[in-house]
Amino acid sequence: MKVNQISTNFTLDREGLSFSGVNLNRLAEEVGTPLYVYDAQTIKDRYAYLRENLPREIDIFYAMKANPNIAVIKLLTSLGTGVEVASAGELYACEKAGVNPKNIVFGGPSKTDEDISKAIDMGIYALNAESLGEIKRINRVAQSKGKVMDVELRINPEFEIAGVAVSLGGGSKKFGMDSESIDRIIEEASRLENIHLQGIHLFAGTGIQNNEGFLSNLENCFRLAKEINDKHFKIESIDVGGGLGIPYSDEDREFSIEGLKEKIEELLKAYPFIRENGTRLIAEPGRYLVAQSGAYISRVIDRKHSRGREYLLVDGGAQHLLRPALIGVNQPAFNISRVSDSVQKFDLGGSLCTSIDFLGKDLDLPSESGEGDLVAVLCTGAYGWAESMPYFLSHDIAPEVMVYKGKSQVIRPRTLMEDVVNRQIIPEDL
Ligand SMILES: Cc1ncc(COP(=O)(O)O)c(C=O)c1O
Repeated sequence: MKVNQISTNFTLDREGLSFSGVNLNRLAEEVGTPLYVYDAQTIKDRYAYLRENLPREIDIFYAMKANPNIAVIKLLTSLGTGVEVASAGELYACEKAGVNPKNIVFGGPSKTDEDISKAIDMGIYALNAESLGEIKRINRVAQSKGKVMDVELRINPEFEIAGVAVSLGGGSKKFGMDSESIDRIIEEASRLENIHLQGIHLFAGTGIQNNEGFLSNLENCFRLAKEINDKHFKIESIDVGGGLGIPYSDEDREFSIEGLKEKIEELLKAYPFIRENGTRLIAEPGRYLVAQSGAYISRVIDRKHSRGREYLLVDGGAQHLLRPALIGVNQPAFNISRVSDSVQKFDLGGSLCTSIDFLGKDLDLPSESGEGDLVAVLCTGAYGWAESMPYFLSHDIAPEVMVYKGKSQVIRPRTLMEDVVNRQIIPEDL
């Protein structure tokens, strides 16, 4: 994979790696390694492309779990997205980023009374309920505040859809309520006075590689919504989740978004109640909007050979970027300090004392790669910084930098382990 296939704003040449004209090799010298860099223009381009290819009726709510930095949230919401959150902490981040609460939905299992309370106080668009128990808890918390809370029912359909990297719906799941028990749950929930049943949420899974998968989840949603609309309550919102995949290698298929608009239009015509009701349609993409904007840059500390394999060991690792080790899949990786026609296989190891700590294996990198070189792992704008294990082995936590309009700005400074250690307490009687 070439860098300009990931984003047309990226170049890699003898000068190094540049995002929208900003040289990241120089940036790494200034800020220090390891670091994350996000290209704001790439996020804007991804959003514009998605917006253009979805019908106007579908509101795009950014799933901030993909990248929770408030600068990223601010950028996307100022373009027109809402936000999907999964904790009180994420609600707080939305407050800091100035997100309109009417454009926030809150999903995810094990919501505590405190989570629910904050959502109600902020007046968000909807809480996506994961179980009857949670519906009752929402009712109880709302009652204590003398309020009525809008709720979307997260439904777990009967079958998993094909072509999903991580399935979150179908079969037995900790997410949502089984579709066959939904009539009984709605009957019980309808008797509660402090919730308003507003709509449904259905999410097949993440990393969908084909638009048939996305469309079959959508059709499932519309069919279930119609059944509920006919039998129980007026469906005012349908939330179809996120899950649009991106290619991490030449072998991955790009999720083909072109032509999707027409197919969704056809579906909307087949389910006229949606337009008749003025139902709000919500999609919650995370990865699709931000993954390709990011680079995780670390510096080679050591090169070594062990029994037939060649290693580059860097000053970063799975403490900041867990995904390649977690699912055993490479992301595009480049030595940005040298361009060479001669490449060989390297394993890119990190600084943790665990054998799972690899940023990539069997990577084609310049044969002369060695100490001092900078290595960039790309497509790390989603599920990078946020989905790692930053405290393992007490290394500093990588800073995040945003490149925008020809400038770079630190959007989260490096967290020094001294600060983390200084917050710990030794009991007096030890
Ligand atoms: C409820 C919900 N919505 C949206 C997403 C975003 O998924 P993706 O980043 O694959 O678009 C997730 C991811 O797990 C999720 O759980």
